[in-house]
Amino acid sequence: MVERFPSPARARKAVLELAPSRIREVANAGMDRPDVDAFWFGESDQPTPSFIRMAAAEALDLSQTFYTQNLGLPALRSAIASYVSNLHGVPLDAERVGVTSSGVSALMLASQLVLSPGDRVVVVTPIWPNIAEIPRILGAEVIRFPLTVREDRWHLDLDQLLATLTDNTSMLVLNSPNNPTGWTITPEQQAAILAHCRQRGIWVLSDEVYERLVFTPGRSVAPSMLGLADPEERLMVVNSFSKTWRMTGWRLGWLVLPTPLVPQLEKLVEYNTSCAPGFVQAGGLAALSDPASEAVIASMHNDIATSRAGLLGALRQLPGVCLPRADGAMYAFFRLAGHTDSLALAKRLVVEAGLGLAPGSAFGPEGEGWLRWCFAAAPAKIEAGIGRLRRFLNQT
Ligand SMILES: Cc1ncc(COP(=O)(O)O)c(C=O)c1O
Repeated sequence: MVERFPSPARARKAVLELAPSRIREVANAGMDRPDVDAFWFGESDQPTPSFIRMAAAEALDLSQTFYTQNLGLPALRSAIASYVSNLHGVPLDAERVGVTSSGVSALMLASQLVLSPGDRVVVVTPIWPNIAEIPRILGAEVIRFPLTVREDRWHLDLDQLLATLTDNTSMLVLNSPNNPTGWTITPEQQAAILAHCRQRGIWVLSDEVYERLVFTPGRSVAPSMLGLADPEERLMVVNSFSKTWRMTGWRLGWLVLPTPLVPQLEKLVEYNTSCAPGFVQAGGLAALSDPASEAVIASMHNDIATSRAGLLGALRQLPGVCLPRADGAMYAFFRLAGHTDSLALAKRLVVEAGLGLAPGSAFGPEGEGWLRWCFAAAPAKIEAGIGRLRRFLNQT
């Protein structure tokens, strides 16, 4: 018999090989259950501040429903440049800023700009899955470089990392403060990495979306790579409105680029999304320029710091918990003695305890055996979750 479809419909190999998100796999098992206390996703349980919502509503009312410039509204690019300059004390030209339809879109565009199939990309792990999968979608080879736990703290072995960054490496991807561990890079480590990469022509892609979520006394922002590099150097910095302004559902972010790449980004945005929606950008503009903004961020930080202290303190009192220290982001990353299969454990926690956590294996093989708990939630909800975990541990 003649085959009717000699070439059956099938996606590319790199896409077929993508693993579905394990966070979603656990969440799908419990999202429709109102009795589950869920901490699996990386987002606040509070809505976007009202002054931002009002600015977007007003823009819609004014019919800002048309395409905008590929690189974003000029006013928003300027506002981002001023915000970054003030925050990190480094001059930044608005020309180097491209507005993107989310942080994850900025990560994809950055990779599309410089990666070719077969390129060697080093990623510091464990890490939010999208960051390691994006280069793979584009056909690059991803080398994972794991953080380690030393003296009860997440730790980067700098010498080992530099040894891994060889002349045939195309790009290093770093995320600090890190999702899921909370590990936060020091300015000294950043300088050493940039100097090493500069000598070898290696691109550095720095994901700084959690920069406002640091909990080291005396620090209000995590160190940025931006202050250490020249505007022409091989550094790209990704940021997002999602975490700092609680705008996860809006899909708005930005990319800071070396000047020569800006016209190239402009073309790529055209072929990806063409532009971020104008009324969404109006919300972003309010987030950056409204006089209320910094006070709102400070109050959000305060709330999250309270929830963090409550969660970390309570977890450390439970039997068999290993919870290394870290300085940033919005997660507790911990293990429970006797449990090695994190996906199975996370599913059991949903079914048996009504507790929704992300399995550590979602963040790569280094995360196997760990669980991630997002603490951007009200203290009472966290307390209820701890009660559920305590009962589960008592029964097993
Ligand atoms: C490290 C990291 N980078 C980027 C993002 C993307 O954020 P968004 O696409 O919502 O802007 C996330 C989201 O969780 C993240 O954890």
